[in-house]
Amino acid sequence: MLVINFKTYHESTGANALLLAKLIDQAALNAPTEVLIAVQALDLESCVRAVKNVKVIAQTVDAVGYGAHTGHILPEEIKSRGIVGTLINHSEYPKADADLGASIALAQAVFQHYTIVCSPSYQKTVEIERQWDPDKIAFEPPELIGGDISVSSAQPDIIKKVVEISPQRQILVGAGVKTLEDVKVSLDLGAIGVLVASGVVKAADPAAVVKEFLKAWK
Ligand code: G3P
Repeated sequence: MLVINFKTYHESTGANALLLAKLIDQAALNAPTEVLIAVQALDLESCVRAVKNVKVIAQTVDAVGYGAHTGHILPEEIKSRGIVGTLINHSEYPKADADLGASIALAQAVFQHYTIVCSPSYQKTVEIERQWDPDKIAFEPPELIGGDISVSSAQPDIIKKVVEISPQRQILVGAGVKTLEDVKVSLDLGAIGVLVASGVVKAADPAAVVKEFLKAWK
């Protein structure tokens, strides 16, 4: 799968989020793999109403149900509005271990396999895998996030090790993904997909980049 994280860039917030979601949606028509967009909370509803070919996921959720939980983001309520999944524990918004397990468990109960747990290192991936057993983990070295050196070119050996932790685990990789080659190498190393932000959001022609990346699955 191709997962595009909108983060909170100006280019992917508010009216721009909607515009970008529509562009990506057109680029994803007849896509050879699933395309997901991870949108900040305020823009989830407008984006989900505007797309047909991509799935919309949240950038985080909290381990709470309905009740007295000021400021939290409820997985069930997100789901009821057509949002199919979520990222959890992105390195720009990590969860404390005490909260991480409960968040993964609740998100997986609500969203099943559209729960993508982010991990910043091999060691943390092992811990997440052993303790909480999520279906999908996205390995993203924080020092490469937002840069021009991709995880697949800088850390191919670590990607291989991460993929080998457990055969049934589905691994995505992210950080610095900018080219079709980055995506192809990631898939060749055993990842089921990539998580990308600036390479699409900040591109002069985001739709062209999405179409280019999707060639990796053809
Ligand atoms: O969640 C994706 C992200 O952290 C990678 O960001 O800008 O390096 O593609 P970027």
